[in-house]
Amino acid sequence: MYNYRLDGLPDYPFQRLAGLLAGIEPARGLEPIIMSIGEPQHSAPALLKETLTAHSDGWRKYPPTAGTNEYRGAVAAWCTSRFGLPNGFLDPDVNVLPLAGTREGLFMAAQLCIPPHKSGGVPTVLVPNPFYQVYIGAAVMNGAEPILVPATESTGFFPDYDGVPKPSLARAAMAYICTPANPQGTVADLVQLKTIIRLAREHDFVLVSDECYSEIYETSPPAGALQACAEIGEGLANVLVFNSLSKRSNVPGLRAGFVAGDADLIERFSKLRAHGGAAQPLPVMAAAAELWADEAHVDENRRLYRLKANDAESILRKRFGFYRPKGGFFLWLNVGDGEKSAQKIWKNAAVKVLPGAYLAHEAGPRNENPGAAYIRVALVHDRKRTSIALTRLAETLSAS
Ligand SMILES: Cc1ncc(COP(=O)(O)O)c(C=O)c1O
Repeated sequence: MYNYRLDGLPDYPFQRLAGLLAGIEPARGLEPIIMSIGEPQHSAPALLKETLTAHSDGWRKYPPTAGTNEYRGAVAAWCTSRFGLPNGFLDPDVNVLPLAGTREGLFMAAQLCIPPHKSGGVPTVLVPNPFYQVYIGAAVMNGAEPILVPATESTGFFPDYDGVPKPSLARAAMAYICTPANPQGTVADLVQLKTIIRLAREHDFVLVSDECYSEIYETSPPAGALQACAEIGEGLANVLVFNSLSKRSNVPGLRAGFVAGDADLIERFSKLRAHGGAAQPLPVMAAAAELWADEAHVDENRRLYRLKANDAESILRKRFGFYRPKGGFFLWLNVGDGEKSAQKIWKNAAVKVLPGAYLAHEAGPRNENPGAAYIRVALVHDRKRTSIALTRLAETLSAS
């Protein structure tokens, strides 16, 4: 006996990749370089170790679901300064909840937001296609119908939820957006964010804005949904924003994030998490609060990513559909056949990349997978290894 909804999900992308590459030996004599997973390899900030040690007493305690005043305060202060929010717009006591990383919270948001029925039918969840795979899993496991909305080159790599047919919008319980987007690196502007927020309010669904790449950008900081709410001037209704330290501070193993937004939803989220969520440990929360308050390590991080984007530009030039992502650290390369290219790149260049097909679903009138032609390449290693890998990758792809 099990929940048969699970059968509606494909295997997770990294399992699929393991299957695709099984039995293929990477080229002899070349050190394998893994660029399939978005796991930052830059150093963790030095202050992390000190603060974790200083708060080691906290390991003996069960942490409260709602977190500490210090953590929620640090998050609210960071959001206020980063997004230019009016003072008091975000109340740390009612608008912020700590999360042990955002992945689980993004998944659990669907449990929070999807009712058994909406507008007389099965609720829908609007999902960009391609997507971060957690969104689709969350929708399917909670009995909703995912509505896959193209986020392809022809839509500027951003989903047009306004164009979703009215009956599906009426049944919408929630919508996910990702900005900067994984995998395409697109950044939504304030006009786009405000349009989606207004749509969510008009049709009474929850907008889940996944902003965990917000601090990895080229020149100007990406806008965020909190900022868009402040500009609209009608509070935070129907909006939940997710962010984490994983990418900003190179600490994916710390599991430190937050959700901020609509006070009613946050209160219910806290109740739900008290029943089944993983609370953030107290020493982690103390260290994470300090990381949210420090921008120096984030500036340095951004500088390193920028240098690697420069290198990628000069190595790949205009080949393989290269463009500089506006945010995040992925290259989204159009190579014709992502699966075949991933196999070839592993075999000949000993570089592991992810086929774009594993980050998207077949959809639309022609039932096409919008990621099929792409590979996703994570620029997470140091500059030298990244350049070596990209050079090998370019040679392999040009040789075909
Ligand atoms: C788009 C997106 N959202 C959320 C996450 C989850 O990150 P974390 O759980 O480390 O905060 C990731 C991680 O790769 C991601 O790519």
